[in-house]
Amino acid sequence: MFRKHHFIKISLTFLITTLFYLHSFAQNWDIPDDKKTKNANFKFTNQTISEGEAIYTKNCMSCHGNLGKDNSLKTLNPIPPDLASVKTQERTDGELFFIITTGRMLMPSFKVILSEEERWKLTSYIRSLNKKYVQIVSETNTSKSNLIKIKMDFDSLTNKLKVDVKANETSGVVSLKDAEVMLFVLRYFGKLQIDKTVRTNNEGIATFNFPKDLPGDKTGNVDLVVKVSDEIYGEVETQSKFKAGIPTDKPSLTEKRAIWNVLKKAPIWIIITYTSIVLIVGAVLLYIIYSLMKLRKLGNN
Ligand code: HEC
Repeated sequence: MFRKHHFIKISLTFLITTLFYLHSFAQNWDIPDDKKTKNANFKFTNQTISEGEAIYTKNCMSCHGNLGKDNSLKTLNPIPPDLASVKTQERTDGELFFIITTGRMLMPSFKVILSEEERWKLTSYIRSLNKKYVQIVSETNTSKSNLIKIKMDFDSLTNKLKVDVKANETSGVVSLKDAEVMLFVLRYFGKLQIDKTVRTNNEGIATFNFPKDLPGDKTGNVDLVVKVSDEIYGEVETQSKFKAGIPTDKPSLTEKRAIWNVLKKAPIWIIITYTSIVLIVGAVLLYIIYSLMKLRKLGNN
C-alpha cells in the first residue's frame, strides 16, 4: 500500500517537473505592447538587406544557420529557429527588434554590441525571403535624433560622470527625461561598459559612478563613449576624451625591441644569434666544397 502511494507521488513529481521544464522552454517571449508596435524609421531597401546580411553572417549565423536553409545549430536547447520560418515571420518587426535587443538564455542580447540602426537592418534582412511582408515605417521619430545635444562633465573629486541630455526643439531647449544612457570606455578590443545603464532624471541628467582604478594613457586620458536612446528622439552616440583614468605608461606592442616585432626592432640577441648561425653554416659549406675540390684534385692525380 505504502509503496503504491510512494510510486504515485514520485511519478506525479516527475510529471510536474517535466511539464514545468517543457513549459519554461516553449514559453513565448514576454514582450510589452508598446515594443511590439515599434517600427524602423527608415525604409528597408536592397541596401539595408545586404548590410543586414553582413551583420547576420558575423553575429547570428553560428546559431541560426543560413536564412531559409533550416540548418541552425540543432544541438542547442531550445533549438534556435530558422528566422525565415513561418513562426518567426508571423512576429511584428517590433517583436523581432525586441528579441534581438534583449535576448534570453542562449539567445544573446545585442543591445550593447549592435546599434539600433544595425538591429533594424538585421530585421530588414530577416524579412528578405518573406514575399508577403509589407513594411510599416515609423513616422513619429524620423531624424529627431539630430536634435539631441549631449554634454559630459567629469568630477574628479567624487569620481562621478554627469551626462546632460537635451533636445534643441524649435520651441526651445527641452530636457530628455527617462532616456536610457550607457557609458563605455574604448579599449583595443572594443567598447567596455562602465557602471549600469542609467535613465535620465527630470532635468535630463544621468549620473555614473566612475571606477577609481581605470587605466588611461600616459596623461590619464580615457576615450569615453556615451550612448543615449530615447523612445521619441531615437539613438545618438558621442565620443570624447576625459582625464578620468590613472596615467599608465605602457609602451605599445611595437615600440620596443621584441621577438614579435619587425626585423629592425628585433632583440639584439636574436640578431646576433641569427647572423652567427648564417655565418657558421656558410663557413662550413665553403669548407665542405673546398674539401671536395681537393679530393677531386687528388683523384685526378
Ligand atoms: C548562441 C546562439 C545564438 C546566437 C549567436 C543568436 N541566437 Fe537568436 N536565438 C537563439 C536561441 C537558442 C533562440 C531560441 C530562444 C528561446 O526561444 O528561448 C533564439 C531565438 C531568436 C529569435 C526568436 C525566434 C522566434 O520566432 O522565436 C530571433 C528573432 C533571433 N533569435 C534572432 C537572432 C539574431 C538576429 C541574431 C544575431 C544578431 C541571433 N539571434 C544570434 C540562439 C542564438
